[in-house]
Amino acid sequence: MSHTNQTLGEFIIENQSSFKYTSGELSRLINSIRLAAKVVNHDVNKAGLVDIIGAAGEVNVQGENQQKLDVYANKKFIQTLINRNIVCGIASEEEDDFIAINSQDENHQNKYVVLIDPLDGSSNIDVNVSVGTIFSIYRRVTPVGTAVTLEDFLQPGNQQVAAGYVIYGTSTMLVYTTGAGVNGFTLNPAIGTFYLSHPNMRFPEDGKIYSVNEGNYSHFPQGVKNYIKYCQMEEGDRPYTSRYIGSMVSDIHRNMIKGGIFMYPKSSKDSNGKLRLLYECNPMAFIAEQAYGKASDGFGRILDIQPTSLHERAPFFCGSKNMVEKVEEFMRNSMS
Ligand code: AHG
Ligand code: MN
Ligand code: MN
Repeated sequence: MSHTNQTLGEFIIENQSSFKYTSGELSRLINSIRLAAKVVNHDVNKAGLVDIIGAAGEVNVQGENQQKLDVYANKKFIQTLINRNIVCGIASEEEDDFIAINSQDENHQNKYVVLIDPLDGSSNIDVNVSVGTIFSIYRRVTPVGTAVTLEDFLQPGNQQVAAGYVIYGTSTMLVYTTGAGVNGFTLNPAIGTFYLSHPNMRFPEDGKIYSVNEGNYSHFPQGVKNYIKYCQMEEGDRPYTSRYIGSMVSDIHRNMIKGGIFMYPKSSKDSNGKLRLLYECNPMAFIAEQAYGKASDGFGRILDIQPTSLHERAPFFCGSKNMVEKVEEFMRNSMS
């Protein structure tokens, strides 16, 4: 098959014209994410070898321990995007506030802002389990040539122009969408090139895998509890299989290939769950929809939520369309 020979670089150039804004700026932006992904991949791969693993001793804005590789990946992505002078603003899960770039220079023409979760699933680093990077790209809403403001970042997910993730797994892949389907590229580490290995990725409409941290079961809303019991019931094609890695990127990536649902509901401890709307839910929701799947907060579309703050969280149900619709049905029914 010829597509297996196509590199990510070639793919970006070939598909540039099909993108509705054809300035080439978005292509350059995805290219720089590709570069940063390779750099971070190199360090994730040797995490067990060097003194880079373990907590960095600092706590991020969400109050979680930052792992050293979180800090490193955050720095690398931000540096690459700043050095290449490609975006006008960056927001990161690991930074308290957004970063305005070239805010002093009236001539800068950059139109895009990037939001990143530089390392997703970071607690898995110490135990040699897959982690990821998630990115989300918007056009700024304030005028070009001025400093970006919070407004540029607080856009609903349905305004994303591109989103993607890198998975540092048994092989490293970059999967992304610009709103015209989802394509996956696998890194050949010997030569440092990503090749198109998974064209037109699609969630199967139905699935048999459910992914949720069942340790939190007793704190879940009744609708989620009922749905989990439904998954476990002996009937038709059930019981389903439970798989939970604890790296959302890896869990969703597997479910996209095999068919399944990933859930991080709210609980009696966390009224909006744990996952961050801007850095985690929205980009994965955009990818899911572009791959014929679905993403919901249990009652409605994730991509239609109007964010009100940079680090806000949302309950998250993402995966095969029929499975997400089923859990929504259980949520609705348990309300009445
Ligand atoms: P991060 O490493 O960016 O903080 O994200 C971790 C997230 C997500 O990847 C994963 O699915 C979830 O946290 C796991 O949380 P629990 O340990 O609470 O299940
Ligand atoms: Mn994360
Ligand atoms: Mn993270």
